[in-house]
Amino acid sequence: MEYKKNIVLIGMMGSGKSTIGRMLARKLNLNFIDIDSKIEKLENLKIKDIFEKKGEIFFRNLEFKESFKEIKKNNNIVSLGGGAYLNDKLRLIIKKFSCSIWLHWKSKTLIERIRNNPKRPVIKGMNEFQIKKMINERNKVYAKSDFKITCDNHKKNEIIDKIINVYKKYEISN
Ligand code: S3P
Repeated sequence: MEYKKNIVLIGMMGSGKSTIGRMLARKLNLNFIDIDSKIEKLENLKIKDIFEKKGEIFFRNLEFKESFKEIKKNNNIVSLGGGAYLNDKLRLIIKKFSCSIWLHWKSKTLIERIRNNPKRPVIKGMNEFQIKKMINERNKVYAKSDFKITCDNHKKNEIIDKIINVYKKYEISN
């Protein structure tokens, strides 16, 4: 089956964009692109080391460039890094070329998942209150996506079915 628009998965760190994206791509027979993994391969460094050695601005520029490239192609399911959708310019590109889907979780769930993870440089040194504040601020931007999928208390397969449902409706109406 041919789809008119790509799927872009957005949401906070720990929201399962990569796992869900990979499963979804298999089910819909589309390509799966994980922007963070692509950047790690290109730079031959882990994300946290890119932040440490080259800085966040370098990472954000590369993230924009690589996300743009993949979003413009056809038949892609793109898993974006949690900060990418905050970029106004990228949001416009996403709106034009894709159906954006926000994987929403309660902040409590997200905090439990990411709090002690050393791979997450943007929350390094933050306490729970600060992470919660960040989630609340970002949620206002994630809410600009085409669809919000409520994930708490749902199995992966249920989340995937919910995504496929909204995506098919979106494809018909666009
Ligand atoms: C970031 C999220 C990470 C990664 C980088 C910055 C963020 O991706 O891009 O550490 O600003 O939220 P995941 O959302 O896949 O963890």
